[in-house]
Amino acid sequence: MFIDLLRKRRSIRSFDQRQIEVEKIELLTEALLRAPASKGRHPWEFVLVTDPEIMSLLSSAKAKGGAFLAQAPLSIVICADPAISDVWIEDCAVAATFIQLAAEDLGLGSCWSQIRRRQHQSGTPATTVLRHILQLPDNLEVASIVGIGYPVASIAAHPHNALPMHKIHKNVYQGQ
Ligand SMILES: Cc1cc2nc3c(=O)[nH]c(=O)nc-3n(C[C@H](O)[C@H](O)[C@H](O)COP(=O)(O)O)c2cc1C
Repeated sequence: MFIDLLRKRRSIRSFDQRQIEVEKIELLTEALLRAPASKGRHPWEFVLVTDPEIMSLLSSAKAKGGAFLAQAPLSIVICADPAISDVWIEDCAVAATFIQLAAEDLGLGSCWSQIRRRQHQSGTPATTVLRHILQLPDNLEVASIVGIGYPVASIAAHPHNALPMHKIHKNVYQGQ
């Protein structure tokens, strides 16, 4: 059941060096393109990176929280053209979620690296750094990068009793 997939999903930042099979990359690509987007406008563009040299540059595009990408056999850079949709950020987030859940379903691990509103260690926006590395056109903004690969080790699921049930409100908001 789909809930079982959600129950075991964790962010994976350590990957073994086994390459991801071409068939699985094709399925991941399909999952990206099946993500819903507001008004069906599909403002996104996805750059699939497998080149280790480019991967290394991706891992340092922002000052903190992206180092794990250096070891990922596959990274998906999620970009969009804000002129196509005023809700491109949401559209990109949905696509990132789809790819992470598809990866989990295929026995792969993944983690999100936030790019929008993040800076390189020089203070330059991480998007500007990535625009240069990936030869992105000026109309594209980068939302995030999802690193994917076979996990070195599994991470324990969040137990049911650790879920923040107080975030759920019935009919009207109920104070803490
Ligand atoms: C919008 C968003 C941005 C995130 N950015 C990063 C990031 O830049 N680097 C990172 O290592 N993890 C990042 N994560 C992963 C979270 O840190 C992780 O989902 C959270 O700590 C919960 O852990 P879990 O996914 O294992 O349940 C991000 C997750 C989301 C949803």
